[in-house]
Amino acid sequence: MPAPFSVWNTAPTSAAAQRKGRYAPGSSAHPAKMLPKIAAHAIAAYTRPGDLVLDPMCGIGTTLVEAIHLGRNALGVEYEPRWAALARINAAAAARAAGAGFGSVRCGDARDLTRLIPFEHHGKVDLVITSPPYGNSVHGHVRSTRETGERGVVKRCDRYSHDPSNLAHVSTDRLLNAFAEILTQCRVVLRPGGTVVVTTRPWRERGELIDLPSAVIAAGRAAGLAPTERCVALLAGIRDGRLIPRSSFFQMKYVRDARRQGIPLAVIQHEDVLVFTRPDPTGHCRNTAVNKGRATRPGRPTIRAPRTCTQRNRDGHR
Ligand SMILES: C[S@@+](CC[C@H](N)C(=O)[O-])C[C@H]1O[C@@H](n2cnc3c(N)ncnc32)[C@H](O)[C@@H]1O
Repeated sequence: MPAPFSVWNTAPTSAAAQRKGRYAPGSSAHPAKMLPKIAAHAIAAYTRPGDLVLDPMCGIGTTLVEAIHLGRNALGVEYEPRWAALARINAAAAARAAGAGFGSVRCGDARDLTRLIPFEHHGKVDLVITSPPYGNSVHGHVRSTRETGERGVVKRCDRYSHDPSNLAHVSTDRLLNAFAEILTQCRVVLRPGGTVVVTTRPWRERGELIDLPSAVIAAGRAAGLAPTERCVALLAGIRDGRLIPRSSFFQMKYVRDARRQGIPLAVIQHEDVLVFTRPDPTGHCRNTAVNKGRATRPGRPTIRAPRTCTQRNRDGHR
C-alpha cells in the first residue's frame, strides 16, 4: 500500500532549537548529526511505545534520544569512542527526563553488530534507523576569526576523527560494501516484519554525481531487505506555503564554488529517506539461525555507487 505522505515536515525549527536542552556539551562538534525531527518522525511512524529501536552508526545518539523521549527503548553502536561516550551521556539524560525507557550504547564496528548487540535482543528490534557517513565537503562549523586570530573563514568540527578505518574515511565503494554488511547484520537483529529507515543524500565527487540513495537501496536488497517506501525529509522550513532554506555556510560555499566551475549545483534542502522491511511471509520468526546469533551471516554482496554525471570538471575527471 502506498505511504500516505511522502514529504516529512521535519524542519519547522532550526537544528539548534530542536536540540536545545537535550544534548551534553561537546555534542555539537559531531560533523553530521541527524536532524532530531527526522528521527522522531520515523520512530513515531514505524514503532509503538515500548518498542526497541537500534542505530548501528549512532554518532552522538540523536536517534536514541528521540526514541527514549517517545517512550521507546534504544540500542546504539558507534565506532568512535568520543561519539559513543557522548551518545551514552545523551541517552542517559533522555531516560532521566522521560522517567522511563533505556538507551544502551556499545563502542565498536557495526560490521560486528550481531556480536555487539546482546543476544537477548536478536530478532527483537522493531526499527533500525541510521545514516551512513558520506560526502564531508559540506560538513563543518565556521570559526570566527576573532577566536583564531587568523584571516578569512576557518572551518572546524568537519571530521569524525583521524582514524582511516572509520567508514567516513574510506572510498565510496568500500563504504557501500561495508554498509551492505551492516544492513545484513541488522536483518538478523530485526524482528520479522521490522522496519529499516536510512537517511542519505546524493553528493558530488570531483564533479561526478554519486547517487548514494540508489546505491543504498541496492545494498538493502542485497542484505535481504525489501524496499517499501522512499520519502523526503525536509531540511528547510515552510512558511506561507514557501520553503525557508536552512543551509549552512559551507553548503552555500560548496554550491557557489561548483557553479564557478560550471557545475550546475543547487543547495540540497532535504534528506532522502529509504524505508525497508524485513520480509515476514509466514508471520513467524522463520530463521532459526537468528536464535543462534552470528550463524545467519550471508556472504558479502558487492555494491558500487552509480556515477550518473558525465560532466567533465576542472581536473578533467569524469
Ligand atoms: C552520519 S553519522 C551518524 C550521526 C548520528 N545519526 C547522530 O545524529 O549523531 C555516521 C556515524 O557512523 C560512524 N561510523 C563510521 N564507521 C563506523 C563503523 N564501522 N561502525 C559503526 N559506526 C561507524 C561515524 O563515526 C559517525 O559518527
